[in-house]
Amino acid sequence: MIASYPHARPRRSRATAWSRALHREVLITPSDLIWPLFVTEGTGVEEPVGSLPGVSRWSVDGIVARAKEAVALGIPCLALFPNTQPERRTDDGREALNPDNLMCRAIRAIRDACGDSIGVLTDVALDPYTTHGQDGLIDANGYVENDATVEALVGQALNQANAGSDIIAPSDMMDGRVGAIRGALEGQGHVNVQIMAYAAKYASAFYGPFRDAVGSSGLLKGDKKTYQMDPGNAEEALREVEMDLLEGADSVMVKPGLPYLDIAVRVKEAFGVPVFAYQVSGEYAMIEAAVAAGAGDRDALVLETLLAFKRAGCSGVLTYHAAHAARLMGA
Ligand code: PBG
Repeated sequence: MIASYPHARPRRSRATAWSRALHREVLITPSDLIWPLFVTEGTGVEEPVGSLPGVSRWSVDGIVARAKEAVALGIPCLALFPNTQPERRTDDGREALNPDNLMCRAIRAIRDACGDSIGVLTDVALDPYTTHGQDGLIDANGYVENDATVEALVGQALNQANAGSDIIAPSDMMDGRVGAIRGALEGQGHVNVQIMAYAAKYASAFYGPFRDAVGSSGLLKGDKKTYQMDPGNAEEALREVEMDLLEGADSVMVKPGLPYLDIAVRVKEAFGVPVFAYQVSGEYAMIEAAVAAGAGDRDALVLETLLAFKRAGCSGVLTYHAAHAARLMGA
């Protein structure tokens, strides 16, 4: 039985800062963060992304500098996304299989500079490599073909693992890709390379700035609704997660983040596995727009939204605010 007022006064424990700290149920720390970074060609290049104020594409040397910064801040993992040069994009996205592509060079450079002091997560999907901006191989009608795409994704995942990726993160939403990738990794001796499945990834309006950052927004025809999930569905997310776990995923992701916090909670409650949330580009842009409009305090908005993911049961969050947030947490 819970006592009622005036015997119980919940405000009593909120009256001082030390007491609030003592009673706080969840914490967010730099070790909960994964920092997504965009890689571009060249040396000494920093290209600001217009729709993501404060976020830049970096050439490989700049990525290495960010990796060292992350280590110093206590951020345990980076997520890499390439802005492939237009002349290297093809209908079949074969640049994804090139062992010397931008992604592989960035992975090796981070490994050379930082050893095992930071994890590298690599996204598996063909959209940064295709001329049509879809995540897979399309047929004459523009439909993304499942099984042929899975074959290409297996090649892409092996290419990343061979370059030194620690976590393979399939973001394509093809059926059966986790099992196919797991099998191929085992077959090649990559037994400790993890798979974080974008298990519940929605066909969302919040990905726009990301597509600008990887250079696929101008190319994309149509949408991704035949493979990414319908925003109205929650039960289906549980089925997707269950399939990916049975196929060998080590952890699962819910994406986008805040608009799908209910999904993160349900996945955690149903399966008890490590769940990660991706606070995506449009969510980042929304916070920055609010700040620019004088509608909120950046530091407070960043910390409060990140804490929400921990409260929902997530093990960690992919966020473009990672470095800034880690600095705030250390302060
Ligand atoms: C690629 C991919 C996307 C994102 C992560 N991986 C874009 C998409 O599916 O169109 C979005 C991330 C973000 O918006 O920050 N498949």
